Amino acid sequence: MTAVNKITVLGSGIMGHGIAQVAATVGYNIVLRDIEQSFLDNAMKKIKWSLGKLVEKRKMSQNDADSIYGRITPVVDLKDALKETDLLIEAVPEDMELKKKVYADVDTYAEDKTLYASNTSTLPISEMASLTSRPSRFIGLHFFNPPQLMPLVEVIPGRLTDSRTVSISLDLIRNIGKEPVLCKKDVVGFIVNRIFIPLIHEAAHCLDRDTAEMTQIDSAVKFKMAFPMGIFELADYTGLDVVYKASKEMISRDKKVINPHPLIEKLYSEKKFGQKSGSGFYDYAGDNKYERVNLTETEAGKYDPIAIVSVAANNAAWLLTNGVCDNNDLDKALKLGMGLKKPIFTLVEEFGTKRVLSTLENMAAKYGEFYEPDSMLRKMG
Ligand code: 3HC
Repeated sequence: MTAVNKITVLGSGIMGHGIAQVAATVGYNIVLRDIEQSFLDNAMKKIKWSLGKLVEKRKMSQNDADSIYGRITPVVDLKDALKETDLLIEAVPEDMELKKKVYADVDTYAEDKTLYASNTSTLPISEMASLTSRPSRFIGLHFFNPPQLMPLVEVIPGRLTDSRTVSISLDLIRNIGKEPVLCKKDVVGFIVNRIFIPLIHEAAHCLDRDTAEMTQIDSAVKFKMAFPMGIFELADYTGLDVVYKASKEMISRDKKVINPHPLIEKLYSEKKFGQKSGSGFYDYAGDNKYERVNLTETEAGKYDPIAIVSVAANNAAWLLTNGVCDNNDLDKALKLGMGLKKPIFTLVEEFGTKRVLSTLENMAAKYGEFYEPDSMLRKMG
């Protein structure tokens, strides 16, 4: 592909460093930019760790790993970082005020040829595009954590995004070995986060309402719902700072999209961000290491995750009813973006469509409108 040769990734956190590594792996020259050298040092350390793992698992040779590492240049100066860049991928924290400032700075230095892509997980693409000098050449490219291992990228055109930007983006995603799913509407949470983020809050409600233990709920999510991780485990792994900010942005745009549980804000305000800070829902050894929670089938046997299945199914149905994606893309997004081993509506059948519907109806009567079943589920039930 000739349209994109040089890529600048803005923000070197969990997503930024992973995206930089993925694009460098297929030969792109990457500038990884952050506001402090120490952030970049940390990011390069993580890239080295990840490449080391891939070498250990014989996915690449040490020579390849060294070349990939060598293609990533960490830079603090924004003007230098944007020089001759064909594509900017912005992966800074999810805060509209911060993004406004970042795009104002970017517009000062970016060359006319540079396309803008945001890895935002929740902010509206059209609104972000309108902050910049090039709304027709602005697009959402939403990667999943860890970008090195998750094959999905949601591609979200804004209202004014032109067809050339969409086709260059789709080519790029395929070129870096990922699967694009086109999100047809710029809705809150796009496809995957529309399901994932509300589920974290729902699981926290289950802790209270069912007086269940965290490992019981998580084990049930893993072994009965065919998720690769428990939901609290996944939230800790994603980062509770990310989850909190995503929730806040989503709720600010649509009050009905999440039934917020105060525990998420509490953990955030206590700086318990999950694995990265040493504690979140669970405690970790710290030092930002990759760790898994011990979940078992025995623990799974002690909890019925019907409320969690029902809320996931309701949001999935909402996406289909509202034409955000079709059923194939929904399955593809959940499989490749969250590692679900079963299509969501297969899960609904296994738990019983009527039971899912009546669970939502009972919860709507007890806890309010958030649980009101989508029209598609009503028809299915
Ligand atoms: N690079 C290279 N290797 C890595 C890695 C990385 N970044 N991260 C983990 N690994 C390694 C592990 O160290 C482990 O190696 P080991 O066998 O030597 O210990 C190996 O990969 C496999 O890990 P696991 O044994 O834990 O095995 P899994 O089969 O469970 O795979 C997983 C790990 C792919 C992370 C899987 O658990 C998964 O798919 N989890 C769900 C992730 C998910 O849902 N992500 C999306 C979150 S939502 C999001 O990102 C959107 C945002 O906007 C909020």
